[in-house]
Amino acid sequence: MMSDQIHKTPDLRAYSPEEPCWCGSGKAYGCCHQAIEDRMEQLRAQGHLVPTRAMLKTPAQIEKIRESCKVNIAVLDEVAARIREGMTTGEIDRIVSEKTAELGGVAAPLGYQGYPYSVCTSVNDQVCHGFPSDEVVLEEGDIVNVDCSTIVDGFFSDSSRMFVIGETDEETQQLVDVTRECVMKGLEQVKPWGFLGDVAQAIQDHAAEYEYSVVREVGGHAIGLEFHEDPYVSYVTEKGTDMVLVPGMIFTIEPMINMGDADICLFEDNDWELYTEDGYPSAQWEIMVLVTDTGHEVLCW
Ligand code: MF3
Ligand code: CO
Repeated sequence: MMSDQIHKTPDLRAYSPEEPCWCGSGKAYGCCHQAIEDRMEQLRAQGHLVPTRAMLKTPAQIEKIRESCKVNIAVLDEVAARIREGMTTGEIDRIVSEKTAELGGVAAPLGYQGYPYSVCTSVNDQVCHGFPSDEVVLEEGDIVNVDCSTIVDGFFSDSSRMFVIGETDEETQQLVDVTRECVMKGLEQVKPWGFLGDVAQAIQDHAAEYEYSVVREVGGHAIGLEFHEDPYVSYVTEKGTDMVLVPGMIFTIEPMINMGDADICLFEDNDWELYTEDGYPSAQWEIMVLVTDTGHEVLCW
């Protein structure tokens, strides 16, 4: 199948049990998505927020998104191998841009809503969307989030990792480690018929154990056919609330965890970079996860 056919939104009409399922599995609707959609309908009737059919990726789409993820992972692996003290974040931008092109991808951030670089590099008290710069030299003890997003054949992937330059102090190292644990605790909650709020609550609870705070204004997102798709994924909602999780959904888990207060501020000179208001450090890890029939699969890290 051509990738533009794979890319299209599924037909939203009602299906009879005998006809081929809208997802292109080749199975009859009655043996494929019917049971899932009946359950979605029941939950909707009970007042829950359920995804639309268009939010469920088809098997063919998932395969294309997987290819995009492979490139994104390889780009971050390249950054991991080369990042070091004395390097500028501008160099990271060039590494990302070159490696992505070498692997047949396009860096998704460049030109996205006017964003001027191929990657976001957020250092210390930068919360996210940090601009790479030849003026920003990485020093011993810095913590830096490198956030990569890739387009391959029209399909999107997105993940980010924290890097500690040399060694940092114990408190800051703990923030980096606990933020990673927050993502894993959130991930454990990803299963069919759970809620996005279960993911968010697990993240908040873990952060609260260390008296850290979760950034409220910026969250994650569904992804695959576009960079940022609905639903928006908040990390400050409560267990049992927010959208129901259904097989085929793909979204990011990317909480920003602050050592100090949750408040953040926008650097108005460029309208992109976000900093903690109190100047304490902030950390973020991002993975992409697929809801499967039995639980979840991590597609990108
Ligand atoms: N992972 C980040 C996000 O989803 C990537 C932002 S790229 C930018 O917000 F272009 F929007 F900065
Ligand atoms: Co993202």
